[in-house]
Amino acid sequence: MNSQDAYTRLSTTIAASAIITRLRGVAHTARAAQVPIRAIAAHCRKMMAESTVRSPALAAVDRRLSVAPMMQRTDSHFRRFMRLLTRHTLLYTEMIPLGAILEGPRERSLRFDPREQPVALQVGGADPSGLAEAAGYSEAYGYREINLNCGCPSHSVQHGGFGIVLMRTPAHTAECVRAMVENTSLPVTVKARIGLDAQRSDAFLDDFVGAVAEAGCKTFIIHARSAWLKGLSPKQNRSVPPLDYARVHRLARKRPDLDIIINGGIRSLAEANQFLAQGLGGAMIGRAAWEHPWQFTEADQRVFGVDSSLPPTREGALRAHAPYVDRVLADGEPFHRVARPLVGLYRDQPKARRWRRALAETRTLDDALGHMTAA
Ligand SMILES: Cc1cc2nc3c(=O)[nH]c(=O)nc-3n(C[C@H](O)[C@H](O)[C@H](O)COP(=O)(O)O)c2cc1C
Repeated sequence: MNSQDAYTRLSTTIAASAIITRLRGVAHTARAAQVPIRAIAAHCRKMMAESTVRSPALAAVDRRLSVAPMMQRTDSHFRRFMRLLTRHTLLYTEMIPLGAILEGPRERSLRFDPREQPVALQVGGADPSGLAEAAGYSEAYGYREINLNCGCPSHSVQHGGFGIVLMRTPAHTAECVRAMVENTSLPVTVKARIGLDAQRSDAFLDDFVGAVAEAGCKTFIIHARSAWLKGLSPKQNRSVPPLDYARVHRLARKRPDLDIIINGGIRSLAEANQFLAQGLGGAMIGRAAWEHPWQFTEADQRVFGVDSSLPPTREGALRAHAPYVDRVLADGEPFHRVARPLVGLYRDQPKARRWRRALAETRTLDDALGHMTAA
């Protein structure tokens, strides 16, 4: 980085953190005084407009290929590494519950390195005013999109009244989305499923999408499975209910005004490209990105048609990643947490087992690489 870049980055960071502090102050004072959301939104927007930080909303989001939000997976460690493999694939955060954003150590939940961009924030919640506040923060922290989780079937999420249960109450979900849209210029998107329990008809999905689209959501990521809330664990709900891609295609045909992204069971870029060729707005890959990240080195070229300069070998990518790993280890992060996203790197390669052992038996990336190059 030259001194001009360093200066620009520093001044942008200082300006951004000043805005965040001011936004925080405005939001808290306004909530305490029960000021209506619209008034908070207008004020925050004015502050952002007057700031010297260029709004990330100005950058268009390309969703032709994305990596799905995954709890305990798509954290900063994963995203930093994925950025060495693909510059253009949109990366989602894990679902961040609203409570963590509004009451927790927000900096820890939301801060991320701009080198991970483009990044979309996924939130879990069902309180319109809280979600509006979160939408304001997502913009201030530099995310490119804020996504509302309407597909998670976990018991704690159901208990909190958000995730998949939001599909049962389209009017309320629309209210949540409207509140978010009014408080940010970022795209507000929704990730949902094709149905839940007995509510698996096209009409059910159409009504949900219709109501939420009316509130200002133009992009829907649809996991092509229903959730069966009685009798299946969250993990089983990702594999037992059958995939039904035709439902997603029908929705896309009925709503050409919307960007419909398909998710569920997509294992390769070839499959993702097939969905794009069939007219869908994008393909989102979850588990296959975690299990086989190296395949994303072809994503920029094959999906986005762009030649990015990327490390040509796995070892090259790991060497490029090493300074980041050293830094977070020095900050006290345990090696196994930084190493987890790297476990699948040699999948289907002769060295796969050796690599997994190297990661399990060493405590630095350099040592793990040493195992790989040793005779
Ligand atoms: C470990 C794990 C954690 C997940 N966490 C989330 C989450 O935080 N938010 C969400 O919307 N979906 C979550 N999902 C679901 C994925 O985003 C995706 O919809 C699902 O895995 C289907 O896509 P796939 O077949 O490509 O994996 C999670 C999935 C897995 C495997």
